[in-house]
Amino acid sequence: MDQKIRQGRNSTQEVKLTEHTLFIVKPDAVARKLTGEVIARFERKGFKLLKLKMFTFTQKQAENFYGVHKDKPFFSELTSFITSGPVVAAIIEGNNAIATTRIMIGATKSFEATPGSIRGDFGLGFSDNIIHASDSQESFDHESRVAFE
Ligand code: CMP
Repeated sequence: MDQKIRQGRNSTQEVKLTEHTLFIVKPDAVARKLTGEVIARFERKGFKLLKLKMFTFTQKQAENFYGVHKDKPFFSELTSFITSGPVVAAIIEGNNAIATTRIMIGATKSFEATPGSIRGDFGLGFSDNIIHASDSQESFDHESRVAFE
């Protein structure tokens, strides 16, 4: 009985109504003219577009944006790719936005991503994996500040 009550509370907490998240359509997807397709998927899902911006990351911005990965061996490959051409950043709003968006984009390695997900349908790359999306509230706060500064 107690457990059922706890489960009920947990599941209520897991669905965060009108949450915000950020995604970035990466240089490979912009170059391949997939921007509209990617944004349309989030609109069709029911998310509301709040902000949209096309820009090219500077090296400094990229290092700040991907700061959590600064000690990883692939950091320079990552920043060099994300600065290689224009990106489109979006902030969207909807129920459980952070978790739902992560499901919609698919696994980081596009070649392993499930068909039906964005990476699974459009990519085979790793650095060039079509789209980035915030994975937590903390990442959203940081990444949206950098992208929309
Ligand atoms: P993204 O969702 O933008 O978050 C960090 C990015 O780092 C990830 O997508 C990949 O593009 C990239 N990445 C993660 N691991 C590796 C790796 N081992 N080699 C190259 N790129 C990586």
